Amino acid sequence: MVSGTFTFAVLGAGARGQEFSQWLCEHPSAGRVVAVAEPDRERRQLIAEAHQIPMARQHASWEELLARPRLADAVINTLMDRLHAPSALAALKLGYHMLLEKPMAATLEDCVAIDRMRQATRRIVSVCHSLRHHVLYVQVKRLLVDGAIGQLVSFDQLEPVSPLHHAHSFVRGNWSNEARSNFMLMTKCCHDVDVLAYLVGQPCRRVNSFGCLTYFRQANAPAGAPDRCTDGCPAEAACPYAVQKVYLPREAFWGKFLWTQIAPGVATPEDRWRYLRTSPYGRCVFHCDNDVVDHQVVNFEFADGVTGTFTMTAFAQPMGRRSLRLHGTHGEIRAALDTNTIDLHRFADGLHLQYALPIQRGSHMGGDDNLMSNFIQALRANDPNLVLTTTTESLASHKIVFAAEQARREGRVVALKELDPTPSCPDSEAER
Ligand SMILES: NC(=O)c1ccc[n+]([C@@H]2O[C@H](COP(=O)([O-])OP(=O)(O)OC[C@H]3O[C@@H](n4cnc5c(N)ncnc54)[C@H](O)[C@@H]3O)[C@@H](O)[C@H]2O)c1
Repeated sequence: MVSGTFTFAVLGAGARGQEFSQWLCEHPSAGRVVAVAEPDRERRQLIAEAHQIPMARQHASWEELLARPRLADAVINTLMDRLHAPSALAALKLGYHMLLEKPMAATLEDCVAIDRMRQATRRIVSVCHSLRHHVLYVQVKRLLVDGAIGQLVSFDQLEPVSPLHHAHSFVRGNWSNEARSNFMLMTKCCHDVDVLAYLVGQPCRRVNSFGCLTYFRQANAPAGAPDRCTDGCPAEAACPYAVQKVYLPREAFWGKFLWTQIAPGVATPEDRWRYLRTSPYGRCVFHCDNDVVDHQVVNFEFADGVTGTFTMTAFAQPMGRRSLRLHGTHGEIRAALDTNTIDLHRFADGLHLQYALPIQRGSHMGGDDNLMSNFIQALRANDPNLVLTTTTESLASHKIVFAAEQARREGRVVALKELDPTPSCPDSEAER
């Protein structure tokens, strides 16, 4: 279909599926959702009602939906990480275009398989690396390409996950346990590695990494803390993670998220208390089965000698508001997502320019909005190359993530060439 409006099938009507469904409600000229697959009845109904999807197209699983002949132009694949590969491969085989949530897949082999299938089927696939579409990173990339700081030499980025976000998602929630989801650098920071590699614009050569789970462990539980906050904890008054503060007050950010996107059918105070007594979100943060790191650093060396660092920590604020410094031969860029500003300093004449970028609304400060617009634009032009974050681009940055995690586990420097013996990651001067 090459006209302006497209049909979509949402696989997984959780938080992200609902966000993209909402985006389509707000942009009817782009298209609408005509089918949904989701085992949770309440979540499925939210999307079904928003787009008036008939019962015959409301499915309990992605397997059921994709067992049918193709019934939309594209799928919005917002399943959990370990379901991406089987569902993405099945959807591509059926001829769907796809918006695919990051991470592309849980293993390198599956990422490669998705990229190959995308190329073989010539479908349009955008992987949701929202940061590449964020106005601040778009402007930083433009400045680098324009040579505003000369030749890039080094960079540093900090991702402040924030304690409450970390506790919600990476201690109690979906991404807390590697066997159920994946390692932290992939589930949370493949965004960061992707956008940094994109800014550098050169293949990565080598990485090392350190990090561990320091705080959210049994050993740090307050004396007498029970397994659940709902069981009467003596430390409740002093504990910032007590569910009574995090999820129950009307104005609590994570409460709003939990009761609208994760448990939308749980509405009365009694039902919410009952939910917290039994769901993973009611657990004491020191008595969970989490095993992902709460802080990690990565060092990079790129093919033209650019070096860089990336730090992820649970123990910094404000949530998700990354800060970035880029050092070039002729100047320096400092970019801050909390103020949405970029400061450019030029060495030769002492020039200082500040770019105050517009604050966009929506998730990832407008990054998801721009990402969807980019995907729709590619669909309209029927041109896979218009997608900024194709599977091939995403595969290249996922490789760096896999290498960095291997480096952390094995306590050594890992050359990208070890993951990819093809010449795409030159390992030495002679190969460049
Ligand atoms: N781009 C980003 O910045 C960003 C942010 C958050 C999450 N994500 C990614 O988006 C994906 C979804 O995350 P989320 O927060 O929406 O998670 P979620 O748990 O809220 O949503 C996943 C949904 O899939 C449903 N599901 C499970 N099995 C299914 C099946 N067989 N068929 C159909 N549906 C099934 C679940 O019931 C759930 O509603 C993950 O891969 C996550 O890593 C990306």
